[in-house]
Amino acid sequence: MRLDRFLSEMGISSRSELKKEIRRGQVLLNGEEARDPSLFVDPENPPVVLYRGREFHYEAFSYYMMNKPAGILSASRDKKQSTVLDLIQEDRRRDLFPVGRLDKDCEGLLLISNDGPLSHRLLRPKSHVPKLYFVRVSGRLTESDAELFRRGLRYDEDLTALPAELTILSAEDIISEACVRITEGKFHQIKKMFLALPKKKEVLFLKRIALGPLRLDEALKPGEYRKLKEAEISALKEIPSSASEEMRR
Ligand code: URA
Repeated sequence: MRLDRFLSEMGISSRSELKKEIRRGQVLLNGEEARDPSLFVDPENPPVVLYRGREFHYEAFSYYMMNKPAGILSASRDKKQSTVLDLIQEDRRRDLFPVGRLDKDCEGLLLISNDGPLSHRLLRPKSHVPKLYFVRVSGRLTESDAELFRRGLRYDEDLTALPAELTILSAEDIISEACVRITEGKFHQIKKMFLALPKKKEVLFLKRIALGPLRLDEALKPGEYRKLKEAEISALKEIPSSASEEMRR
């Protein structure tokens, strides 16, 4: 990979700016000045980069936790609307994508990465990765609603949810609040499940607070993000990569 691309993939700066900086002698690779932007760099055996006195280490994969704000699309790019990737300022690598989707009006934990295999393991239906949501719904939730969630609720003509946990936090005639834990992720699933209750409830507010082993960092305000910690990345990587591995567990 060319040096200028390698450095821009690390999110150090834009490629055009880096070309100039390299020619000015601002970049050292393993302590040696590198003044040629087209110099070959092997990402499998990456050098330590020193740029303006700061050391950078190449990572093949990036992982961010975002508190997705309402009103922003969970997509990589969109011609008309802002996407979650537009909110990522520091890392301009072009291969980042949101791992799974949240509805435009939904907030909360979104994983953003360029790790395709990990994304596949998290999203494929047979992984049954648990997802925890906080909801505010219209009307009074009851324990019999929780029982219907537990049994597996039929919520679309031909869709029945896997058993889900509904923990009621507060229940009043106009509005109730609850946490819902599901182990699948079908289109508009939470909203549809509440609409499918005998006394149907409309979801007024929806926020994801956990995805598998990841828990939304409460310090992140809507629109903010941070890199995942090593322990969080390791916990995600524990998700089995194949059905045979799953069976061995
Ligand atoms: N369920 C929904 O209805 N919407 C989401 O964004 C996620 C789960």
